[in-house]
Amino acid sequence: TYTGSILVAVNPYQLLPIYTAEQIRYYTNRKIGEMPPHIFAIADNCYFNMQRNNRDQCCIISGESGAGKTESTKLILQFLAAISGQHSWIEQQVLEANPILEAFGNAKTIRNDNSSRFGKYIDIHFNKRGAIEGAKIEQYLLEKSRVCRQANGERNYHIFYCMLMGMSPEQKKKLGLGKPTDYTYLTMGKCTFCDGRDDSKEYANIRSAMKVLMFTDTENGEISKLMAAILHMGNLSYERKSAHSP
Ligand SMILES: Nc1ncnc2c1ncn2[C@@H]1O[C@H](COP(=O)(O)OP(=O)(O)OP(=O)(O)O)[C@@H](O)[C@H]1O
Ligand SMILES: [Mg+2]
Repeated sequence: TYTGSILVAVNPYQLLPIYTAEQIRYYTNRKIGEMPPHIFAIADNCYFNMQRNNRDQCCIISGESGAGKTESTKLILQFLAAISGQHSWIEQQVLEANPILEAFGNAKTIRNDNSSRFGKYIDIHFNKRGAIEGAKIEQYLLEKSRVCRQANGERNYHIFYCMLMGMSPEQKKKLGLGKPTDYTYLTMGKCTFCDGRDDSKEYANIRSAMKVLMFTDTENGEISKLMAAILHMGNLSYERKSAHSP
């Protein structure tokens, strides 16, 4: 196939004031090249080619770990949600899927404090008027081994630390949970904290995202139980049964 425009994005590693609602307006309905290169220009180009030519569009985001793929993806989604302009429940659901996917699929590595340990394909459906009507997210190749083992300086998936830091004492008591340093599966990398991340606050965000995505209380409870069971299982140790024991 042919490719469309290519953007080389450099990770600034600092918050720049270039992703505001005003910037979204500047980049809406412009020809590529009319404005300085920007991730919003790519998103705008996709959206208007879709509407103009009535054809599906595709954005491929690639780069090494820490390059900024996850952040760029979120900016594209943010742009599309803003210009499709309905402020609908479905748009909010598309945006709020990210905190959940990141909680269960991202972890601190030595290269990136929020490294995605899976790949994803996001399909966004627009109606004839250009409003977001639905979305489908497929995920690939989650690094499952991280649940049981982490390299030095790395953590398990964020959700475990978020749960332990963010749950109420009653909830934790019910699940028999303690603090991150109590668990083998959370301490193999000798690192339970992550500078600049607030696990407790993050837990509140995950819970509110789950509400938007309409997880029921029962589902949430079952997920917490499953996560707790993994942590407890990791603390089991086995002994060989002596040949002479009865
Ligand atoms: N556009 C941006 N503006 C400001 N900071 C950014 C931007 N893009 C990335 N960053 C910073 O760099 C970090 C790493 O970026 P990101 O998680 O998007 O990398 P990635 O390419 O998805 O890496 P991985 O392959 O490990 O998942 C972010 O947590 C954020 O702090
Ligand atoms: Mg990523």
